[in-house]
Amino acid sequence: MSQPLDKIENIGRYKIISRLGEGGMGVVFKAVDPIIDRVVAIKVAKKFMGKGQTESLAAVDKNRFLCEARTAGSLVHPNIVLTYDAGIENDQVYIAQEYVDGETLAVNIREGRLLPIKKSLEIIYNTCYALDYIHQKGLVHRDIKPSNIMVNQLGQVKLMDFGLAGDLEAMLKGVERKEIVGTVGYMSPEQASGEMLDARSDIFSLGLVLYELLTGQKAFKGETPYQMMYQIVYGDFTPIETYLPDILLNLKGIIQTCLCREKEFRYPRAGDLAEDLLPIIRGSDSAVFDKRDQEKLELLKRLDFFKHFQYSDLQEVLKISTFHTYQRGEVIAEEAIVDNNFYLIVSGRAKVVTDSEEKNLIPGEVFGESAALTNMKRVSKVVAQTETVAVVINASLFVNASEPIH
Ligand SMILES: Nc1ncnc2c1ncn2[C@@H]1O[C@H](COP(=O)(O)OP(=O)(O)O)[C@@H](O)[C@H]1O
Ligand SMILES: [Mg+2]
Repeated sequence: MSQPLDKIENIGRYKIISRLGEGGMGVVFKAVDPIIDRVVAIKVAKKFMGKGQTESLAAVDKNRFLCEARTAGSLVHPNIVLTYDAGIENDQVYIAQEYVDGETLAVNIREGRLLPIKKSLEIIYNTCYALDYIHQKGLVHRDIKPSNIMVNQLGQVKLMDFGLAGDLEAMLKGVERKEIVGTVGYMSPEQASGEMLDARSDIFSLGLVLYELLTGQKAFKGETPYQMMYQIVYGDFTPIETYLPDILLNLKGIIQTCLCREKEFRYPRAGDLAEDLLPIIRGSDSAVFDKRDQEKLELLKRLDFFKHFQYSDLQEVLKISTFHTYQRGEVIAEEAIVDNNFYLIVSGRAKVVTDSEEKNLIPGEVFGESAALTNMKRVSKVVAQTETVAVVINASLFVNASEPIH
């Protein structure tokens, strides 16, 4: 006889310690493997009592669970929960996995403990690598949602729950049962419509997770599960600036790219999403950014001088500089003084004047850097020839800036 799940003391050779969580398919326990002497997580299949089913686990559910074990068991990746073992005992099916000492993202969201933006982006970034890995193996997860992503004490991200994972080839051949699987509220439009799925469906769902991590709110609103599905398939999501008015334009664009209704317009691969996230992760503590700064950044980006700069480097440049507009004839930099600044022409024309010569400066050109960096008196003065915009960069701040800026 199988033991009721609330009184279970051991399963297989594993000694149950406590209950960790529960999802749609199973109940997960913390347990000890007495032979290897390590803590594991054991997922035990719940009994589904459909029509005509008896108390015992229906064969189809058993198969589905073993299929999950096989799929998960084939995956070895630092950001995916490792599967150790699976078994059937007294009508109970279980999977033994790596124990993750941490919380699922659902806990953070539910309890309103929103993580710093940068941390949230890092989590999504790492999840991208797990997704890229399974996609390359021809699998689609189909159940990407906050409760299936955990972060352990070391901050490592672990994707889990391959209970609904689908094999692309089998889906293409139509071998799989045609039914809508997934979790309401986290399905892609094509998933909610029962269409063919590929990697881009997981990317949509990950976009929803990202949105929720950043705002604590669901992107698509609906009072009922049906309304929510309807919104995903036909409606629009709430613009993220409703909750984050100062969100970085780039980040907003990334979310929009994930959440395009037509999958053709989404990132084709999770790795592409990761690539777009990286500069934002590297660049700032908060991805919230002054809109005027955004305009300045666009100006800098157009200059040849900055063409090899990453977005994050430009953000750093902005932090150590100020923009000034000079009228025609106005002195931008005075001669024979020590000033801690150097200058970069953004637009207009200026002239460097020394005792012996004159030289024109055009947008993208820098002057005053050697004097500023060596604390020497400047030997020339610079005068605006037309209305000129220049970036004034503080040399001491520049010296302390990161390597790429230099
Ligand atoms: N390896 C693990 N380590 C720690 N907790 C886990 C582990 N696997 C699952 N859990 C907890 O159990 C919950 C349900 O697990 P999951 O595999 O998602 O099952 P289901 O398929 O039923 O959704 C998770 O949301 C999480 O809280
Ligand atoms: Mg789950």
